[in-house]
Amino acid sequence: MSPKVISFSGKGGVGKSTLLVLMLKHVIETEKYENILVIDADPDANIGDIIGKEIKFSETIGGKMTKLQEKIQKRQIPLEVSKNQIIESEVFDALIEMDDFDLIEMGRSEGEGCFCSVNNALKRIIDVLAKNYDIVLIDAPAGLEYFARKTGQDVTDLIIVTDPSKMGFHTMERIVEVSKEVHLKFKHILVIGNRFPEDLEELISKRIENIDDDRLKFLGILPYDEEISTLNLTGDNLLKLSNDNALYKSAKTLFASIV
Ligand SMILES: Nc1ncnc2c1ncn2[C@@H]1O[C@H](COP(=O)(O)OP(=O)(O)OP(=O)(O)O)[C@@H](O)[C@H]1O
Ligand SMILES: [Mg+2]
Repeated sequence: MSPKVISFSGKGGVGKSTLLVLMLKHVIETEKYENILVIDADPDANIGDIIGKEIKFSETIGGKMTKLQEKIQKRQIPLEVSKNQIIESEVFDALIEMDDFDLIEMGRSEGEGCFCSVNNALKRIIDVLAKNYDIVLIDAPAGLEYFARKTGQDVTDLIIVTDPSKMGFHTMERIVEVSKEVHLKFKHILVIGNRFPEDLEELISKRIENIDDDRLKFLGILPYDEEISTLNLTGDNLLKLSNDNALYKSAKTLFASIV
């Protein structure tokens, strides 16, 4: 069976990674899914930071691919091994095993030269790898390029996070448009308003109603939460957030309709 693949998108800094980790916490606690994979596809931010785990560049896909590229250039790769086989083994090597889930940190692809063929192979292999899991959560980079490059094709649920800002709304609308233009087959597109005062809920709800797309659904809003903000500053593991936290409780009701 194909896994449920949920990707988080939206403008920079709106709370994509935070909500992904809260969803992960919820998914772990419900015990509904046995095998969970998290893919951190954002080269700038780091899921590791939010869950209190230090991840070195050499442990990321970007790190592994940079090293592989060097080996290829120095002709240190035996001719009888195919490039796909090597990339596959590097991807499996990059799997970080946590207690309740596995994590792949994409990292950045450094260096000059064209990464295209490696990237294509990489995408295929990650798709194959994902089939070993029951649920895959993807932290997409901010902005639209990631989707315009057609890398989100196997995503079943696209979550767009926005804050109460013009740019946040604009990015949300653009993501919906781009997904049509490049024919991305998301089954559902779900919008969450994060750091939203209650009196603005109607505003965002109306705004979403005006977008003409059958896949689109407004999930609801989440408030600003002091504890979440502090945990980020202190670098403590967000997965250890108390189950009594008000934002987590609200988030769980929003997530319940997806997972
Ligand atoms: N509801 C909330 N209440 C308080 N603080 C929040 C809330 N949501 C997110 N934050 C804080 O806002 C900051 C940005 O959140 P986060 O890193 O999750 O955003 P992002 O969309 O992943 O950003 P980027 O685009 O840089 O990856 C963090 O410090 C986080 O703790
Ligand atoms: Mg992030």
